[in-house]
Amino acid sequence: VTRPRLIAGNWKMHMLAAEARRLAADVATAAAARPSVQVAVFPAYTALAAVREALAGSRVFLGAQACHEADHGAHTGEVSAPMLADAGVSIVLCGHSERRAAGESDASVGKRARAALRSRLRPLVCVGETLAERDAGQTDAVLARQFAAAFADVAAPELDAIDLAYEPVWAIGTGRTATPETAAAAHASLRALLVGKFGAAGRGPRILYGGSVKAGNAAELLAAPDVGGLLVGGASLDAAQFRPIVESVQEPST
Ligand code: PGA
Repeated sequence: VTRPRLIAGNWKMHMLAAEARRLAADVATAAAARPSVQVAVFPAYTALAAVREALAGSRVFLGAQACHEADHGAHTGEVSAPMLADAGVSIVLCGHSERRAAGESDASVGKRARAALRSRLRPLVCVGETLAERDAGQTDAVLARQFAAAFADVAAPELDAIDLAYEPVWAIGTGRTATPETAAAAHASLRALLVGKFGAAGRGPRILYGGSVKAGNAAELLAAPDVGGLLVGGASLDAAQFRPIVESVQEPST
């Protein structure tokens, strides 16, 4: 069974509650028109409650941008997976490159994914190389290192609740999208890592592409082999840009 395509909007540090509520309502309308596609939005923590209300009864999943590795404790300023579950979140980004750049280590990403699973949240594990790493021919080595740490303590049956996102750091927020061929090559490497570690179960997780996805390139990226969805930053902040990305998923022919 193949999972439906997932179109995910990472709102990053944007949107006050009132604008978040309006955008969420527009995303819900877009999602309703495309029943074969899964849609998720990742607002800032402070807008979760408003977005949860706006999404009530819709098909859109409520996501969070990160969670701490501990369930509770003396961690000022952090938010835990049980808190996110309590706030109605069902999916959480783990290891977004902007979090890694702010100090999240490979090992910590694995612990955060474990924390998400403990609270019955779906981790969306983000990996990807920098431009310097790509230019040095290290892309596959970086993906292998990030994958190994993120999935160190994951058992094959847990893959039902996990997806990945390949987000080359050089493509995030730069307007420089990976070509479908470049994305496909990285997705193939990640799929080989999944199947190498988990066997047939490794075919389950979706691998999303992220990095300067726009309405104009979404369809060609989705047409590339093993692109299971898209993780959209900038273009997810405007319903007029996000809706055509959701609509660029082809309805299944069978
Ligand atoms: P972008 O961000 O679409 O603005 O490049 C993608 C992401 O960081 O998830």
